[in-house]
Amino acid sequence: MRRGKSAGLIKTQIKSRRHYWGSRAKSWHLVRTPEEIRTFRKELSQSLRGVRGSIVELMSGPVSYHHNAFALDFSTEMLRRNPQFSKGKSIQFDLHSIHNRRLPFRDSSVGAFVIVNATQYLKKPSFVFSELRRYLSKGSKIVIIGSDARGATGKELNNLMSDDLVSILQRLGFEANCRSFNVFYSPKIRPLEHKAPYYKIEAKI
Ligand SMILES: C[S@@+](CC[C@H](N)C(=O)[O-])C[C@H]1O[C@@H](n2cnc3c(N)ncnc32)[C@H](O)[C@@H]1O
Repeated sequence: MRRGKSAGLIKTQIKSRRHYWGSRAKSWHLVRTPEEIRTFRKELSQSLRGVRGSIVELMSGPVSYHHNAFALDFSTEMLRRNPQFSKGKSIQFDLHSIHNRRLPFRDSSVGAFVIVNATQYLKKPSFVFSELRRYLSKGSKIVIIGSDARGATGKELNNLMSDDLVSILQRLGFEANCRSFNVFYSPKIRPLEHKAPYYKIEAKI
């Protein structure tokens, strides 16, 4: 009886998180500016040069940062707006269920997993990264772009900073390094904030 109740509660929570993100899909172009998208694409193309195997953008939202990547998200609305959707390269998947559901890739067949501005939503990042490992082979990567300046305080956020992510990845056997870069905004779009600091973590096995 108790088990039934809590499973129901978990399902409701997942549904409401999906619903929340679905409702934000329509206005995402107001969140992610063209400057950010351009800079993230440039950073990622540098990191993904020479990578062999599939490229998968986890928690992709409606934006694609690599023309050939698979977009993975748990929100139908986000995925439907992602350009990879019409190419048949989208995957609806809840990363919180990665312990009991496989990704649609063979072991050792993924060249890179990419995460842009979304690691803060992983409840058990260490567990998710260790599950992702099975899909990677020698020379494959996890590339993470994020910002330590985002002031994460929301209840659903894990508040992990770049240093924490690097430590987690190193503990799991990745060779991980982190560097920072700026995004320069046009004063028209962000009159008060002309540049913002971001980090990029590259973790290789
Ligand atoms: C902050 S948005 C980032 C979107 C995109 N990466 C970007 O930077 O523009 C977070 C995304 O993660 C997705 N998401 C959150 N939790 C998820 C989960 N457990 N599994 C899969 N996707 C998830 C949401 O639907 C949303 O699209």
